[in-house]
Amino acid sequence: MCGIVGYTGPKEATPLLLEGLKRLEYRGYDSAGLAVLTNGHVELRRSVGKLANLDTLLKKEPLKGTVGLGHTRWATHGRPSEENAHPHTDCSKKLVVIHNGIIENYVELKGKLMDKGHVFASETDTEIVAHLIEDKLSGLSKGGAPFAPDFREPMLFEAVRQALAEVRGAYALAILWSDAPGTLIAAKTASPLVVGLGKDETFLASDVPAFLDHTRKVVFLEDGEMAVISSKGVSFFNLDGKKVEKTPITIQWDRTMAEKGGYRHFMLKEIHEQPIAVEDTLRGRLFPLRDGVLEKEAGLSKEAMLAISNIQIVACGTAFHAGLVAKYWLESIARIPTQVETASEFRYREPILSANTLCISVSQSGETADTLAAVRLAKQLGVKILSVCNTVGAAIPRAADYNLYTLCGPECGVASTKAFVGQLVALATLTLHLAIARGKLDEKEAMALVDEMLRLPNLIRAALKLDGQMREISKKYFKAEHFLYIGRNVNYPTALEGALKLKEISYIHAEGYAAGEMKHGPIALIDPDVPVVAIATQSKTFEKVLSNIEEARARGAILIAIVNEGETRLDGKADHILRLPVVSEFLSPIVNVVPLQLLAYHMADLRGCDVDQPRNLAKSVTVE
Ligand code: AGP
Repeated sequence: MCGIVGYTGPKEATPLLLEGLKRLEYRGYDSAGLAVLTNGHVELRRSVGKLANLDTLLKKEPLKGTVGLGHTRWATHGRPSEENAHPHTDCSKKLVVIHNGIIENYVELKGKLMDKGHVFASETDTEIVAHLIEDKLSGLSKGGAPFAPDFREPMLFEAVRQALAEVRGAYALAILWSDAPGTLIAAKTASPLVVGLGKDETFLASDVPAFLDHTRKVVFLEDGEMAVISSKGVSFFNLDGKKVEKTPITIQWDRTMAEKGGYRHFMLKEIHEQPIAVEDTLRGRLFPLRDGVLEKEAGLSKEAMLAISNIQIVACGTAFHAGLVAKYWLESIARIPTQVETASEFRYREPILSANTLCISVSQSGETADTLAAVRLAKQLGVKILSVCNTVGAAIPRAADYNLYTLCGPECGVASTKAFVGQLVALATLTLHLAIARGKLDEKEAMALVDEMLRLPNLIRAALKLDGQMREISKKYFKAEHFLYIGRNVNYPTALEGALKLKEISYIHAEGYAAGEMKHGPIALIDPDVPVVAIATQSKTFEKVLSNIEEARARGAILIAIVNEGETRLDGKADHILRLPVVSEFLSPIVNVVPLQLLAYHMADLRGCDVDQPRNLAKSVTVE
């Protein structure tokens, strides 16, 4: 999730833009840049790495001017580099754009623009927006004749509006044109943008902390809205060009709260970001089902998909649990023999892999030492690597042959939540395309799964409504010393993940178990002080889970059951029943994990634990 800052007013823009980007650093980034209107033309300064590098560059080559844009980039298309850093310009170098989001159809738009003679300097999807606007301006001015001065702002607005009509995807955009000095144009669909109203100055940002020290009077843009911003204020329009009346609000948060979007912890914010993380990771990857979506998105051709004889997944922690879920999918739907192993075990056991094994690595950070070592070992053994990773340009994706990125934005909480759900969605998408390419799913079956995958963001939103109930349950049991989580089939890994979430942030001992294993030992643990969380959503093994629950109940267990809406067979058999929207067993881990994340969060919060930075843990385990 990139950082966006804009300023127009009487003050020097550079220090305000840099300060704003620093306030957004928590969002994570790999490069940064500024564009400032200086003596009638736009000047850029861009650098790879941390903002300190941009700061150093600006000290050597300062930018003077009172209107400008700043950006921190979290790479999605195109590796982290100066050329790919925002802002991006058009051919005239008079118009600059910064962007957060994903332009789905940038390849086709880029081709059309190149056919018209536009020359591109980067690999990014963002750059096409600058050239598309330039192209529209040229059309509006009938071949490029300059507009009369008081026509330039409305013509810029119209050119942006026309350009957006051709763009598909998610965007928060800010545009500056040297022919319309003092004006910024903003547009929003799916990625956040907010305007800060100061005294004779106006700010724009992707998040409030960027300018909270200067004004608390803000207006959030909604999807499909545009803004024309000057030092005197802002006007809002919809994509049809019709004016939209919006009322400013006053932000009450302090800056720390603002960085967390008003949530008390990054982890809770990221749990609530999961619907967007799923939307962004699914975007442009489900249609068309047949011709080469995965080749475009991950480099995995149909030939390569057909050549796979079996799959070996390597990962750690939560990512390992995502791999375990994928094993059920890849075998039951794509019918590909699949092994899953913790990378720390795989790397030392002298594994034997057949030549046509596909090794899939799952990693949020892409820097986990054990997973990277496992990937390197698999490469030495001669197999192809597909990386599912949330960090473009990290070590593991750089080592991989194919990259299917999760697009969840930076995950700040040490406990992985939205990245886990993003990994599941990416692996489900991979399963679908493999199954279709290998003839294991027909169009009708595939479309049924696609329809449900497109409903996941709203299903997760429904699951998030359990937040209050999870808080109440946590108040009863946050002093417990042991918890047991049980589930079957695809929800056995969900049980493991629920247990990991609880233990890593609340320090309560928690175990996840295959429900069918209870009689083989864990049932000895059952007593009134050991709450049992049972995942009992609809499945072909529901009756089995029901009997496991009754066994535990008969021995005095406290039962917290997760079921689907309308399920009554557990009424009276569980102490707490959490009801989730109905979803197929295939996709149920993606929804079922949400109450488990919320339970872990509230338990840890009530125990006064450091939820975002739990003791002894690091966000990325880059050492053995
Ligand atoms: C999960 O909540 C933990 N933070 C940890 O298990 C994590 O999933 C594991 O270290 C793997 O990290 P990665 O996804 O960055 O490779």
